[in-house]
Amino acid sequence: MSGNRSVVYHGTRDLRVETVPYPKLEHNGRKLEHAVILKVVSTNICGSDQHIYRGRFIVPQGHVLGHEITGEVVEMGADVELMSIGDLVSVPFNVACGRCRNCKEARSDVCENDFVNPDADLGAFGFDLKGWSGGQAEYVLVPYADYMLMKFNDKAQAMEKIRDLTLISDILPTGFHGCVSAGVKPGSHVYIAGAGPVGRCAAAGARLLGAACVIVGDQNPERLKLLSDAGFETVDLRNSAPLRDQIAQILGRPEVDCGVDAVGFEAHGLGDEAGTELPHGALNSLFDVVRAGGAIGVPGIYVGSDPDPVDKDAGNGRLHLDWGKMWTKSIRLMTGMAPVTNYNRHLTEAILWDRMPYLSKVMSIEVITLDQAPDGYAKFDKGSPSKFVIDPHGLLAAS
Ligand SMILES: NC(=O)c1ccc[n+]([C@@H]2O[C@H](COP(=O)([O-])OP(=O)(O)OC[C@H]3O[C@@H](n4cnc5c(N)ncnc54)[C@H](O)[C@@H]3O)[C@@H](O)[C@H]2O)c1
Ligand SMILES: [Zn+2]
Ligand SMILES: [Zn+2]
Repeated sequence: MSGNRSVVYHGTRDLRVETVPYPKLEHNGRKLEHAVILKVVSTNICGSDQHIYRGRFIVPQGHVLGHEITGEVVEMGADVELMSIGDLVSVPFNVACGRCRNCKEARSDVCENDFVNPDADLGAFGFDLKGWSGGQAEYVLVPYADYMLMKFNDKAQAMEKIRDLTLISDILPTGFHGCVSAGVKPGSHVYIAGAGPVGRCAAAGARLLGAACVIVGDQNPERLKLLSDAGFETVDLRNSAPLRDQIAQILGRPEVDCGVDAVGFEAHGLGDEAGTELPHGALNSLFDVVRAGGAIGVPGIYVGSDPDPVDKDAGNGRLHLDWGKMWTKSIRLMTGMAPVTNYNRHLTEAILWDRMPYLSKVMSIEVITLDQAPDGYAKFDKGSPSKFVIDPHGLLAAS
């Protein structure tokens, strides 16, 4: 094999599908006997990729994008013990070693192994994080395979549900982690900021955890409709009524037990400010509507430096937060990447046993070819309600 067709970054809103070298079992000059090469079965476009697309995360020109990967093992290093050629596997988006202190303490979101990333204690495919090449490609290298990969035991059964299971590499565990960190449990009232794919997965996760009422807020009516059609409560943030009043109309009181920020640093304001970027918009709305003693999970991404910020403070990751309000309400806050390995097996079982039969509909899964990926990015950027799933080998189309 000589080439690998891939989605390659060339600059802001400039992605091209090009042939790059086929991956080897090596990275940054080191041979990796613990790695595998996967034939990519499905690879999704994520809101995190959109931050790159819009020029808000820097990645080197020529880098292959994509971190939401499901694939089939086609090559293995000599030290891989638990995988076999032909296995269908889900890849957690976090590159993590499974050997360092954080990984051993189930914190694969902050792997501190310098080979994974010497510059920061985290790793992921397809970002500027020590060059791990992305999975929006025909083939991809995955290190630490025995630790990283989650194998689907029944390949045919998994392929039947691949439109749901493709979400296991990132956003379903991420949305679920947001809910778990926010303390969602049977009977909870939950407010989720953001009806993008992560917010919709968080809504599904909250329902799975037994929440009594799940309310999702956004200013995108098409995305909200996907949720209301599946029986979730929604609030349209273009409405000038304060969010507390809109929540009170649903619940009879203006506050919820648990909040999830599924928006991140490219947030908009609410009401009259719904068309304006306001990096603290989602967080401050959550500080307002989560009750005293409640908790908030923040899977939405915030950055230490933003190359195209709305103001100087945002450029350095400094937000204008209602911190005093949040502190006096004694609200707990969880931040950071989601440790996908902590949830992927359980959520796979929940899908296989039909615990979320509405999932692919709420997610509005749209399968596209590799060549259609730049178009998928452009549509997602404009607020499309679809979750785009790239099918590099036509395996989903065939299944
Ligand atoms: N922590 C993790 O491990 C992890 C994993 C995956 C994605 N993410 C991040 O999660 C975030 C959401 O991802 P996505 O794919 O759903 O992205 P997305 O951009 O499609 O969705 C964000 C939604 O938030 C809405 N929004 C904007 N301002 C708002 C506000 N103030 N209140 C409520 N809604 C508002 C937007 O209209 C949009 O529909 C992104 O920042 C992404 O990078 C984090
Ligand atoms: Zn993602
Ligand atoms: Zn580690």
